[in-house]
Amino acid sequence: MIRDILKMGDPRLLRVSRPVTAFGTTELQSLITDLFDTMRAANGAGLAAPQIGVDLRVVIFGDDRPNPRYPEAPIIPLTLLINPELTPQGDALEEGWEGCLSVPGLRGVVPRYRELHYRGHDAEGRVIERTVQGFHARVVQHECDHLDGILYPMRVRDFSRFGYTSVLFPGLDDADD
Ligand code: NI
Repeated sequence: MIRDILKMGDPRLLRVSRPVTAFGTTELQSLITDLFDTMRAANGAGLAAPQIGVDLRVVIFGDDRPNPRYPEAPIIPLTLLINPELTPQGDALEEGWEGCLSVPGLRGVVPRYRELHYRGHDAEGRVIERTVQGFHARVVQHECDHLDGILYPMRVRDFSRFGYTSVLFPGLDDADD
């Protein structure tokens, strides 16, 4: 089911979410289905459970085709990650543009770790582990921030590179996000 996406200013986006303790349940499966339905309907690059008002440590990201909101971005495999743990590989940071379905119509440059190891679980509790770089690493850091109540504008350092998508990137298929 497509759910409403909470927008910045809603206090539910600022909570620290709880770990999932039971895998393979119908409740968890229905949350996951709603997350995928909602992300696809909004052409999101990722979505975290808090964005639909659920304070559990569940994120999804990726796509199996190019995303119209990020046409230049490399394709990230469609992934569900429960109770994710992130371990930066080295100290190197990289700047890149981000947007968020909870912050519609805006983009900003955010520094993120360039390389990252992540570990989490799928719906049945099986371990998912990857070492990733660049845009993939960025998306995971952005989504997992939602689980700790952090929205990307809180990480913007240079507000001369934060603004309306329609002004910054005219022509991008992003007018209403
Ligand atoms: Ni977001």
